[in-house]
Amino acid sequence: MLDINKCIWITGASTGIGKTLALKLAREGFKVAASARSIENLKKLSNESKSLKGSINIYSLDINIRKNVVSTFNKIEKDLGSIGTVILNAAINQPTNSQNFSSQKMENIMNTNYVGTVNCLEPVIKNFTKRKNGKIAIVASLAGYIGFPYSSAYCPTKAALISLCESLRSDLQQYNVTLQLINPGFVKTPMTDKNEFYMPFLISSEKSAKYIYNGLQTNRFEIFYPKIFGYILKVLRILPYFLLLPVLKSMLKKYSMRK
Ligand SMILES: NC(=O)c1ccc[n+]([C@@H]2O[C@H](COP(=O)([O-])OP(=O)(O)OC[C@H]3O[C@@H](n4cnc5c(N)ncnc54)[C@H](OP(=O)(O)O)[C@@H]3O)[C@@H](O)[C@H]2O)c1
Repeated sequence: MLDINKCIWITGASTGIGKTLALKLAREGFKVAASARSIENLKKLSNESKSLKGSINIYSLDINIRKNVVSTFNKIEKDLGSIGTVILNAAINQPTNSQNFSSQKMENIMNTNYVGTVNCLEPVIKNFTKRKNGKIAIVASLAGYIGFPYSSAYCPTKAALISLCESLRSDLQQYNVTLQLINPGFVKTPMTDKNEFYMPFLISSEKSAKYIYNGLQTNRFEIFYPKIFGYILKVLRILPYFLLLPVLKSMLKKYSMRK
């Protein structure tokens, strides 16, 4: 269960999934600390939350800057009291294939999606395990199950987060800290608005917020959605390569991408 008396910190809350979830939680009466880089977008979020039952406090934070992550964690606790739940959601994406392959781009995406998330995890794990209390939710993606075409920069970052969660879940349980892995399918947000290919089972960010909210009220390891898409991908990922690779090849033909 989410503890209504403690605040919830969401990273990447200025747009998309994070923003809609922050508003949903505030509507339900929670105290939310919303962080991201764009102070302008955060101010808009703060204005939208004014009449809600709960509250949203905003914090400008680039998760790539480790020392700022630690000071933001401390600032949130000073302003709002103990953080009970952390939702590590911030990420970036740029469609990538063999023709626009760039190690710099790969490094940037890995630095934000994986290293940035790990930067946030450090103070969180340190404090939560000491207190023997807390919930951590990490937003990876169903795209972390398989290396999809046009996603050679993004998929590996999400696969790394899934592996990180698998590794940490039981360890943290010993300290009464619950780790949950959130794997969304396609959700309509500024991130996916850039995609030119067909996105099967695309859902709204409001629907996504509902799935995450309901999942966070449980302690189950994985919150994945939409269900049908998730189950299709769960079957695909256990296929032997001689069956999986032709499926991935057929996606190359079907979808195109912006260079
Ligand atoms: N949309 C989908 O279909 C989908 C599917 C599966 C998983 N996901 C995952 O869901 C999460 C949210 O994605 P979204 O679709 O809502 O995308 P989005 O609208 O682009 O939101 C990404 C958020 O991350 C923040 N961010 C990016 N770089 C940051 C940095 N260095 N430091 C701090 N904040 C940073 C952005 O804010 P600023 O730019 O203001 O910093 C923004 O608030 C991501 O982890 C994404 O991988 C999305």
